[in-house]
Parts: sequence; structure tokens; C-alpha cells
Amino acid sequence: MSPQEAYKELEKRQREVFLIQSCHAVLAWEERTYMPRGGAELRSEQRGYLAGLEHEKFTDPRIGELLSITEGSKLTQDPESVEAVNIREIRHRYDKDTKLPRELVEELTRTTSRAEGEWAAARQKSDFKAFQPWLEKVVRLLQQKAEAYGYEGEPYNALLDDYEPGATTDDIADVFAKLRGELVDLVARIKEAPKKPDVSIVEREYDIERQKLFNEMVAGAIGFDFGIGRLDITTHPFTSGFGPGDTRITTRYNPKHLNDALFGTMHEVGHALYEMGLEKKEHFGMPMGEAVSLGIHESQSRMWENQVGRSREFWVYFLPQAKRIFRESLDGVSLDDFYGAINYVTPSYIRVEADEATYNLHILLRFELERALISGDLKPADVPGEWNSRFKKYFGIEVDNDANGCLQDVHWSIGYLGYFPTYTLGNLYSAQFFTKATRDIPNLMRQFEEGNYRGLLDWLRKNIHSQGQRYRANKLCEKVTGEPLSHKPLMDYMSEKYGEIYGI
Ligand code: CO
Repeated sequence: MSPQEAYKELEKRQREVFLIQSCHAVLAWEERTYMPRGGAELRSEQRGYLAGLEHEKFTDPRIGELLSITEGSKLTQDPESVEAVNIREIRHRYDKDTKLPRELVEELTRTTSRAEGEWAAARQKSDFKAFQPWLEKVVRLLQQKAEAYGYEGEPYNALLDDYEPGATTDDIADVFAKLRGELVDLVARIKEAPKKPDVSIVEREYDIERQKLFNEMVAGAIGFDFGIGRLDITTHPFTSGFGPGDTRITTRYNPKHLNDALFGTMHEVGHALYEMGLEKKEHFGMPMGEAVSLGIHESQSRMWENQVGRSREFWVYFLPQAKRIFRESLDGVSLDDFYGAINYVTPSYIRVEADEATYNLHILLRFELERALISGDLKPADVPGEWNSRFKKYFGIEVDNDANGCLQDVHWSIGYLGYFPTYTLGNLYSAQFFTKATRDIPNLMRQFEEGNYRGLLDWLRKNIHSQGQRYRANKLCEKVTGEPLSHKPLMDYMSEKYGEIYGI
């Protein structure tokens, strides 16, 4: 069989895997949006069946044979060609998926599905001791998973690679440590600032039907195409790109806070614009038509949420429109007051409620602890103590109980160690990409004032979306911005913005 024939068969098999995955994605979306409670048992069987089928198809030894025939052939001569990229990335996943012993996968699924329930109960009572044995089990199994994958350097690298392929813990830790130093200082100065915006402006009555109207208007204006997408309501907002021509997002509404649905929607629209901009039709089911990593995905959502949605220029255009829709609540509110209110910063316990500035401190703390858990330097029993002392150092406040501390997130109970850093990577990449975009498009901010977002979207399409998985995240960052990932663009952006708002 020639390498070309092998590649053709590989494409055909990948298509099949992708079709199973996208059916699974539709069921998962439907489960969270419209499924009645009674459907839970059947749905879990349907999903389990599809997951098993997908694994079987993807780890078929034939895939390994086909990869071997194509590797080292003319197809891979140019490492940046479509074929070479697809072969490289399929190989990467195939090796990982075939390295895990079946017993370990099953043990992990069993343990994490029970641990999640135990975690929820422990959090309710703020009782870390009840959760501790489960955390110990999860950490032990993940250490075994890292050993099965194999790794260079430390075991955390193997877990991180599931979410951020090719990233190394050392590189990330270095950038994060620099960010932490400057961010702790910035947040402390904001806390002491003499000037404080009036946050109550966004905490007035905001009728949900009117919010829906406004959100849809904003989503459409920044490029969300309702002909190939939907916006629905769920408790935990998310984005799901099923495939070419169908991308779903969700949001949630709070009648007493304008920010929740508004910035939540802009965030998910950012994810969706990436999904819609990937060349999924041309590269059906292949890595060249897929997102680079969770960090790069998050950079797209954060950019539309923060660099665009929380900019003054955006509201030059949209505040007058918002005032027409929310007449009573925004009557007499100036652009400056509104801009201050949506950029209010205050240290708080809960990550998912955190503002743009303190958010990353929540992530840095989790990254440091989970890295130490996996290496064995930190015992699960010592997590609350370590959490609380770091929290005091970074945020300047004492944690009052574990529900507001180390028990707040679901991630560790479901085995997602290595996932948290992708949130801060997203913020870092977002600022670095956006800084470059403002250099490439000199009147970009002026375009925002005029309600024009096409310039930025076209720039993202060309530089990031259409590239699929051609480059790994760090390489993409260098290609696009000319520099490796750095904490500076994000710090510069925040120092300038909060310096003005808080007069520091
Ligand atoms: Co996101």
C-alpha cells in the first residue's frame, strides 16, 4: 500500500471517529438544555455506548499501521503541510490512547464518578476530611496515568498535555511566577485605591426578556451567525461545536446583575467564533480543522469578553443602545461610570465569581497546589492549610471555611488535574494576540466605537482560526506575535486600564 493510499484510508477512518464524536456532542448538549430528568438513565447508556465505540474505532491497530506507512514518506516532508500536521497530531493522540491500560481507565471512571458525589456532599458541609480519602485516590490514579503515558521532566507534564499539547510545566510555571509577582502587587494597590467605581450600576433590576434582546443584538454584532448557531439557557454556560455549520452556545440570566449574562454570552460567542472559523468542512474530522488547545480556545473567548467587551470604546457604541433597552436602570449613567462598574475589582473567595484582575490569582494558586500534589511534594491532607496560607498572601484576606476555599471547584474530584492552567494561559494569549492585532490594525479601537468588529474577526480568522492545529500553542504564539508567551502584554493591559479607573 502506498503512503497516499494509507493516508486516504486514515482520513476515512478519522471521519468515522468524528461522526461518532459529533453525535455524542449533540446528545451531551441536549442533555444539558432540554432533556427531561427522566431521560438521565437512557442518556448515560447512550453516551457510554458511543464513547466505547469511539475508543474502539480510534485505537484500532489498523490506525497504527496506516500511520507507520505515511510517516517518513513524502507526505511528511514539509512538517507544516496539511498531511504532515494531520499525521503528527493523530499519532500523538493514538499513542496516548493506546498506552492506557483498560483497567486504569475503568478504575478512573469509577472513582471519579463517585468522588464527584462525595465532593458535592463534602462541600455542602464544608467538610474537607470527608473528601480527603477521595482526593487521595484520584491523585494516586492520576500519578499512575502519568506513568502510563510516560513523560520527560515531571509527571504533571503528562497530564497537562491532555489539555495543552506540548506545553511544559516548567515553561508555564516561569511565566505564571512572573505574573503572580506583579499581579499581587496590582491587586493590593487597587484595594487601597482612593477612587472606587460605583458597582451598583450593574446590580440594579435588569429584566430578563430585555437582557435576552440585548444579548442577541451584541452576539450578532460581533459576528455570531444565528444561521449556523443557537443560543440557549443552562446553569453552567458552555459552547459546543458539533461540526461544520452547527455551533451551539448557552448562557444564564441574573435579573439583578447585568454582567453575568452579558459577559458570559460574549465569552461563549468568542469560543463559538473560533469554532465557526475553523475550516471544518475542508478538513472534515482532521486535526487541521480543529482547535489547537484549551488555552488557545480560552484566548478567543477572553478576548471578546474582556479586551473587546470591557473596553471603553465598545461602550461608546453600545451604551446608548443599552440605555434604550434598560431605560430605568441606566438613566443618567455616564460612559465613565458604566465603564468603571463593569471593571470593578475586589478580592473574593470564589473563582467563578472573580473579576478580570483577581481571576488569575485563583488559577495560579490551584496550579501550584495540583503540581505539588502530582509530584508528591504536597499531601492531600495538607491541601486546606496550604490553600489558606497562599490565599492570604495573594489576596490579602483569610479564607473562612473550606467550601469557600479548597472545596469550591469540581475539577479535582473528576480527575481534571492539569486543566486549571489553561484558563490563565487563555488570558495571557488573549492579551498578547490582541496587542499584536492593535498594531496590525492601527484604528482597531476606533472601529469598536463605530460598532465595527469585522476587522478584528478577520484578523483572528486569518492568523488563528484557519490555521487549525498547524502549530502547537507556543509556536502559534511566536508565529503570530513574533514573541514567545510572556506575562507582559497582560500586565501592561491591566496596569493601564486599572491605573485609569482606580487612579493608581
Ligand atoms: Co471558556
